[in-house]
Order: sequence, then structure tokens, then C-alpha cells
Amino acid sequence: MILDGKKTSELIVKQVAKEVSNLPEPITLAIILVGKNPASQVYVKNKIKACNEAGIGVKDYRLDEKATQKEVLQIIHDCNKDVTVNGILVQLPLPSHLDQDLIINAIDPKKDVDGLTIINQGRLFNGMEAIIPATPKGVITLLQKYFIDISGKNALVIGRSNLVGKPLALLLLQKNATVTVAHSKTTNLKEVAKRADILVAAVGKPNFVTGDMVKKEAVVVDVGINKVEGKIVGDVDFQEVKEVASYITPVPKGVGPMTIASLLENIICCYKMQVKDRELLN
Ligand SMILES: NC(=O)c1ccc[n+]([C@@H]2O[C@H](COP(=O)([O-])OP(=O)(O)OC[C@H]3O[C@@H](n4cnc5c(N)ncnc54)[C@H](OP(=O)(O)O)[C@@H]3O)[C@@H](O)[C@H]2O)c1
Repeated sequence: MILDGKKTSELIVKQVAKEVSNLPEPITLAIILVGKNPASQVYVKNKIKACNEAGIGVKDYRLDEKATQKEVLQIIHDCNKDVTVNGILVQLPLPSHLDQDLIINAIDPKKDVDGLTIINQGRLFNGMEAIIPATPKGVITLLQKYFIDISGKNALVIGRSNLVGKPLALLLLQKNATVTVAHSKTTNLKEVAKRADILVAAVGKPNFVTGDMVKKEAVVVDVGINKVEGKIVGDVDFQEVKEVASYITPVPKGVGPMTIASLLENIICCYKMQVKDRELLN
């Protein structure tokens, strides 16, 4: 069965739009894009479109490829101070002359819609209230919307990035899965994969997960976005694996739209944290 990220995300966007329309004030996301990376431009365009659909305002900062660290930091500091800006998103990757860690961690954690500051990552690690990175959050939401049991299952996450693999492993652990994280140095991946009831691929390699790696009736989630001969494909060989899996996400229309829907939810989470803060101070 297909885990339909597109349909599920459309329902979430509608819910967010309703919630936004009931808020006492408008909410706004600041998006900072440095340079002209074609994939980043497409991602930013999609994020702006989703914000428009949900009634969320956007402050769109486009900086030259050669923008200095100081210029980027100045925009972040201004947005941190601006009470009309509720979320700040720095589109990654940044050009190599910029210090990504420094820039991300300059964002006020209560405006960190991508959940990438060390504060939000530390909060997630500790099981505290946190802004969760949109892709792992979207994966968990999709599994939950299809009533897929996570508790007690063997879950394998292939990939250990701070953006996807590590936070997703923590979320699955919070949901009481027995979690294994595989990476480029993992040996006998096929054997490890064969034991997984839930298998998530976040590798960045087209058709990396093949049918013979998947346990019968496993749930397979494909996070990968790869361009092959002008077409977008995932990390999972969909044709092979769909014959073995009980549930599988397609690419496109799987995790991608769930990521955008989760980003919108995160903007509301940020707004609510800011309101709580204001109330505490008054
Ligand atoms: N759908 C969405 O919305 C969305 C959002 C974000 C990312 N993505 C996509 O998801 C994929 C992963 O993204 P990412 O940012 O996590 O990528 P990343 O930072 O490049 O991480 C890739 C991970 O895969 C591991 N890996 C590489 N080769 C492997 C191998 N042969 N066997 C096992 N593991 C291997 C790497 O291991 P090491 O740590 O050992 O190097 C690394 O941990 C990409 O295709 C990306 O475009 C999609």
C-alpha cells in the first residue's frame, strides 16, 4: 500500500490554514537563500507556495552567492528582534565560504523552524518540547496518519545526518522502536536491513535499497531525492520493493510534501512558543 504523502500533506496544509486564520495576528516566515543553487531555488519556491496556501506571510531574502557572513548574520539578528517575524529558515546548503553552524545557531531557537540549532537538537535529545526538523517530523506524522505501529518494532534508519537520520532515529526511539542507524561504514547492511520492520532510507543514492534487502511486509520510507536523467527518484528501488513491503512511500509525492507540511506546523509551534514567552514577561 502506498503511503500517500501528497494527500496527507494537503490535509495538514488545510488544517494549518484554518489554525492560521483563527490566530489573533498574522504570522510570518523569513526565508534566507544565499546564491542560486537550482535545487535550493525549487525548494524555496515550494515553501513560499505552501506558506501562501496556508495564509502565512513570507519575508523573502535573496542574497548574492558572494554574500559575507556578516551580511547573513545581520539579517538573522534583525529577524530575531522583529516581533512580526515568527520563523527563520536558512536554506541549506550554504556556499562553502560561510560557516553553516555559526549561522544556524545565530537563529533564536524559538524562531528556528527547521529545528537545527543546538538548542532544539539538545531539547529533542532530552525528550523536551522542541522544534523538530521538518523531514523526520513528516515521516513520523505520515506513519501515524496510516496507524502504523512503531512501538516494539525493529526500525532501521539508513543515514545519520543531523538533518534527517539522527533526529529521525531519536523520534523512533521516543516512540519505543528498537532503532538501528546505518551509515557508510556499516558492514552487512543487507542482513541488518532484512531484520527491519520499518526501514527508512535517507542516503542520497538512487535505488540504493533493493527488494532483496527488505523483510516481507516491512514498512519502507524513502526520504531520498535524487535526479537521474532529469527525473526525481528516491533511494529505494520502488518497483522491486513495492512487491515485498506492506507500505511504501513513493518519490515524488511521499516524504517531500510531508516535509513542507511539517514546516508549516513548525511555524505555528514557533509562534505559540513566542506567545508563551510574551505572556510570561507580562
Ligand atoms: N524528502 C525531503 O524533504 C528531504 C529532506 C532532506 C533530505 N532529503 C534527501 O534525503 C537524502 C539524505 O539527505 P541527508 O541530508 O541526510 O544526506 P547526507 O547528509 O548526505 O547523509 C547521507 C547519509 O547516508 C549515509 N550513506 C552514504 N552512503 C552510504 C552507504 N553506502 N551505506 C549506508 N549509508 C550510507 C552517509 O553515511 P556517513 O555519515 O558515514 O557518511 C550519511 O549518513 C538525500 O537524497 C536528500 O536529498 C530529502
